[in-house]
Amino acid sequence: MERKYPHLCDPIRVGNVTFRNRMFSAPMGGTDIENDGCIGPKSTAFYEYRARGGAAAVTVSELMVHPATDGSHAYHLDESILNSLARAAYTADAIRRHGAIPSIELSHSGMYAGTYMTDKNRSLGLTRWSADDSVRADGVPVRALTRELIDEITSAYGHVAALCKRAGFEMLMVHAGHGWLLNQFLSPMYNHRADEYGGSTENRCRFVIQVLKVIRAAVGPGFPIELRLSGAEFVPEGYDLDEGIKIARILEPYFDILHVTAGTYQRTFGITHPSMFEAHGRNVYLAEEIRKHISKPVAAIGGLSDPEQMEEIIASGKADIVYMGRQLLADPELPNKVISNRDDEIVRCMRCFVCMSERAVTSTRRCAVNPIIGREDEGFEISPAPVKKRVLIAGGGPGGLSAALTAARRGHYRNCNQGHLPGTPCRHGHMSQRPC
Ligand SMILES: Cc1cc2nc3c(=O)[nH]c(=O)nc-3n(C[C@H](O)[C@H](O)[C@H](O)COP(=O)(O)O)c2cc1C
Repeated sequence: MERKYPHLCDPIRVGNVTFRNRMFSAPMGGTDIENDGCIGPKSTAFYEYRARGGAAAVTVSELMVHPATDGSHAYHLDESILNSLARAAYTADAIRRHGAIPSIELSHSGMYAGTYMTDKNRSLGLTRWSADDSVRADGVPVRALTRELIDEITSAYGHVAALCKRAGFEMLMVHAGHGWLLNQFLSPMYNHRADEYGGSTENRCRFVIQVLKVIRAAVGPGFPIELRLSGAEFVPEGYDLDEGIKIARILEPYFDILHVTAGTYQRTFGITHPSMFEAHGRNVYLAEEIRKHISKPVAAIGGLSDPEQMEEIIASGKADIVYMGRQLLADPELPNKVISNRDDEIVRCMRCFVCMSERAVTSTRRCAVNPIIGREDEGFEISPAPVKKRVLIAGGGPGGLSAALTAARRGHYRNCNQGHLPGTPCRHGHMSQRPC
């Protein structure tokens, strides 16, 4: 079969790992994070869904490396907690059994610790740590990390990285973008330190280098380490693309894949997660420019959902890998559809942010165009209805169309607007068992 999108389907080898194609799944948060930070079964099923759909790598969301100074919203991995390692291992297994590479993101929220915490009392009691002593825009005080704490957090990255490998993850993504702790050190917007961690670009990179080195020591050679970096911050006080390129060059010896994202969660949300008012792929130029200055593989992300556009990104050398976040909620089967030339069947993400907003309110993950999201563990089988009925769908939006499709797959009769009874023909001469 001649493939319509051969470059997207091309495998890529990084370190000791071969990825089956160039379509990777971005970290998309955790939902049923258990009270002790374990990965809940719904999250495992949520990430498994993307592996089943054909993505080459599936990245599990933010694992908090140092709970003592983070106290945030994310998963932990802690061998003193019963089942912590087991839960992570079952998640890695679930991804791998469909042929995808299980990856997991290591993160620290720094001054934004507690962002997603539902327990607001506990959240208010947290000490927030960052590069500087400061006060957040919402009045929350932030303390500068001491060198001792920087060293302690660095060691925690190594410790957790080793546990991730032990649990069966085959790649790690280190989050140094989107305004979280490592980004806070890289950015002149947050970092005004006078010691060797502040000032020049080289100094601001020091903490990230320390972290990447310790992770390498923990996972050994050949194990892919991916660095997630904002290519530019899009605010005057932050770094621009020129400095993004400089940062990438300084950090290049320590990562295997550079994942170029954009902006910060707190200041440029609609760029970091390009809203429907932004062009598809509006941040790809950052990856393209940075790729001209480094030799390691570069990944692009941001509002990508069109196979033709993604094929062009790879074919023209703008990036080596494309990542999708929301699109793989709307249609986790996109990679399989691309591979089998069924791209006309792809359900496209509307970038409506139901996925984001629903979690804030109910801690569930939902998608306006994919009713399976958040219900992955309830099974994918559409069983035949024991009693066939005529079904009236009120409303022709994405929900209504999905309901109609499911009803038809269950074997219900399509509605005949002549309203004839079962066993009697309508004015078209159709029996009610037949579609009119
Ligand atoms: C619901 C949701 C959850 C997300 N969770 C994470 C996360 O845990 N870690 C992270 O680094 N990025 C997270 N992101 C950002 C995505 O990984 C991605 O960078 C962003 O959505 C842009 O890609 P897209 O346009 O393909 O969705 C999340 C985005 C959304 C919409």
